[in-house]
Amino acid sequence: MTLRDIKRGWLRSLDIIGDIAVIEVKPEFDEIKHEIAEKILKEAKYIKVVVEKKSPVSGEHRVMDLEWLTGERRFTTIHREYGCIFKLDISKVYFTPRLSTERMRIARMVRAGEVIVNMFAGIGTYSIIIAKRALEKPSKIYSIDINPHAYNYALENVKINKVEDIVIPILGDAKEVITSRLMGVADRVLMPYPELALKYLEYAIMALKDSGGIIHAYDFIKYMKTEDPRNKMKERYEEKLKEFNVEYEILDIRRTGEVAPREYRMVIDIKILNKNGFKRF
Ligand SMILES: C[S@@+](CC[C@H](N)C(=O)[O-])C[C@H]1O[C@@H](n2cnc3c(N)ncnc32)[C@H](O)[C@@H]1O
Repeated sequence: MTLRDIKRGWLRSLDIIGDIAVIEVKPEFDEIKHEIAEKILKEAKYIKVVVEKKSPVSGEHRVMDLEWLTGERRFTTIHREYGCIFKLDISKVYFTPRLSTERMRIARMVRAGEVIVNMFAGIGTYSIIIAKRALEKPSKIYSIDINPHAYNYALENVKINKVEDIVIPILGDAKEVITSRLMGVADRVLMPYPELALKYLEYAIMALKDSGGIIHAYDFIKYMKTEDPRNKMKERYEEKLKEFNVEYEILDIRRTGEVAPREYRMVIDIKILNKNGFKRF
């Protein structure tokens, strides 16, 4: 039996983070979840810990409730992505391996010398991948997060990946960090937190240079059969951009994952062309 068979038969979801398998068991197999976990350890030798995801990510720090099922007794691991190394404790910080392609897409857009503000940086995932894998090197990536555990891991990961000269982790609320020390500095702003992106869009605009720049905002879009999720995303962001009275161009709108039936995680790439008339509310 392969890991794929185990997933197909018994699991609602399976994510591999470093050497930890994070599983959601189909409700009808809840009673045999420990046996399923043992099978996973046996079938995939590189997995050393199996944990059950007991809740969706929640709270300000976006962490999930976990139950340890089998293997080594720990929630800490080292995850590798595109040659970058990420240390983390999956019970204390947010991390998903599902956005790796999206992280690389952003990295490939970055141009030489750019200043980037990552408003919701977690353990430094996007920032470190950009610093190490962008074809042209950015000059600085300010990586803000409000979770002290995420900030501490970001500091450590920046050192492990030897990008201390580029990535600057900052602990705090993105809104306060930007208004107090990062106004008008950025060529590009990342907003990888769907629950807060629209609400904090004005701070992303504030972080951009007077000459404008690019914002990548992530959001969840629920849609009906008759609706186009890309249009819904576009309308949601255009309404705000018009309120702010900035000149803009929508460069791209993409799906970055399906989070539930008829609900996508999406990203919109917005180019702010001119913020002279920018109005805050
Ligand atoms: C969905 S996670 C994304 C983390 C990271 N970008 C990644 O992809 O791994 C959102 C992150 O935003 C942080 N966060 C929540 N509210 C925040 C705020 N007001 N200012 C800065 N960070 C915040 C959380 O602690 C969490 O790490």
